[in-house]
Amino acid sequence: MSPDTRRFMKPFCYRGGVLHAENVDLRDIASEVGTPVYCYSTVGFEEQYLAFSRLFAAVPSLVCYAMKANSNQAVLATLARLGAGMDVVSEGELRRARAVGVPPEKIVFSGVGKTQDELAYALDQDILCFNVESEPELEQISALASAGGRSARISIRVNPDIDANTHAKISTGTYANKFGIPLEEAPRVYEKAAKLPGLTVTGVDMHIGSQIPDLAPFDAAAKRLASLACHLMKEGHRLEHLDLGGGLGVVYDPHGNLRPPEPTAYAETILRHTRELGLKLVFEPGRLIAAGAGVLLTRVIHVKQGAGKTFVIVDAAMNDLIRPTLYEAHHEIVNVREAPSDAARETVDVVGPVCESGDYLAQKREMTLPRPGDLLAVMSAGAYGAVQASTYNSRLLVPEVLVKGSKYAVVRPRLSYDDLIGLDRLPGWLL
Ligand code: LLP
Repeated sequence: MSPDTRRFMKPFCYRGGVLHAENVDLRDIASEVGTPVYCYSTVGFEEQYLAFSRLFAAVPSLVCYAMKANSNQAVLATLARLGAGMDVVSEGELRRARAVGVPPEKIVFSGVGKTQDELAYALDQDILCFNVESEPELEQISALASAGGRSARISIRVNPDIDANTHAKISTGTYANKFGIPLEEAPRVYEKAAKLPGLTVTGVDMHIGSQIPDLAPFDAAAKRLASLACHLMKEGHRLEHLDLGGGLGVVYDPHGNLRPPEPTAYAETILRHTRELGLKLVFEPGRLIAAGAGVLLTRVIHVKQGAGKTFVIVDAAMNDLIRPTLYEAHHEIVNVREAPSDAARETVDVVGPVCESGDYLAQKREMTLPRPGDLLAVMSAGAYGAVQASTYNSRLLVPEVLVKGSKYAVVRPRLSYDDLIGLDRLPGWLL
């Protein structure tokens, strides 16, 4: 494991030559639960969450974990006990958050296409804030809230037209993206919101992208948001908070060039622009909290010598972890039994059993050649891993395990083939 990964993924370390999650030998989890399996560390989530909240402890602030990164209720409950709020983007996420007791006054609801049913449910729950992404949505919330004799607290999600320099599929803050209301339109839309019934304007919101590689986009966006908030307050809007979204990245590739901003530098930048406003700061970090808290365990099925190429065929596939396929993402892959430092290394593709050439966990990766039966750990897989898994190729949805100290628990079991196949229904004419 590289020094960078070791620093970032402290709860995962080798003891006696075997990778552990906290005090648990990962081989024990693999043999009891089977592979592939996601394995999370409680300390991993806790440390990252606490470190992030401490950065803003000196000012009124609320960290709303972007639960799309990892929404297992055991993870949510772990964070909620530390006081975390949640950023949700669907009724399903809102229900998960409420199911583990996250108070509604710590929940913000983001997303460009909230349906009438979702809005109604969130209104019933009386959440902290709706992050509104368009004028039609603003009107829809107003109509719904006023018809029910309620008032919805809202922020406008502002699109500051800033290129976050990240992968095109996870950039959200330019006018080419579907998100938010253009910055120059915002004052007019705020004026409209103030006049509409059933709405209480409480904040300003943005989120410019994910895995953002440097500070400059955060700097520019925070400056624009703060200046808009200042203008709105002068116009008489009684703002309470500023929501700066998420987006801080992590080091996935220890040999790559990407070194995302240090959270402390990020905090300094944000505070420099916002401190004077006296508003509560809301943050929506996802990846930063969850990525380093999880690994995907997978077993080698075959090592196949192709024509001039070696394929390590493992039992995890793109349906279990789609990030390499979808975003060309890099995840470090290590052998759970530490290889001797002088072991010969080879360049291989690590691929899954799914019938697509896009099914790989790593390409052209130099690593110690594993043997069939070896257990591998795909690192930094705690965020956007299990949540994006599917049953493609009729593969069983990957299970999840949470470790705490020397204990572990299956927090989502592997479904059975009966569960999987039994979901289909044959229509009457085929019976
Ligand atoms: N707030 C909003 C409104 C978001 O849309 C997102 C992420 C976040 C916060 C959290 O961003 P973070 O702190 O995690 O960067 N599946 C992709 C990432 C998609 C992110 C979508 N929105 C991946 O695997 O890289």
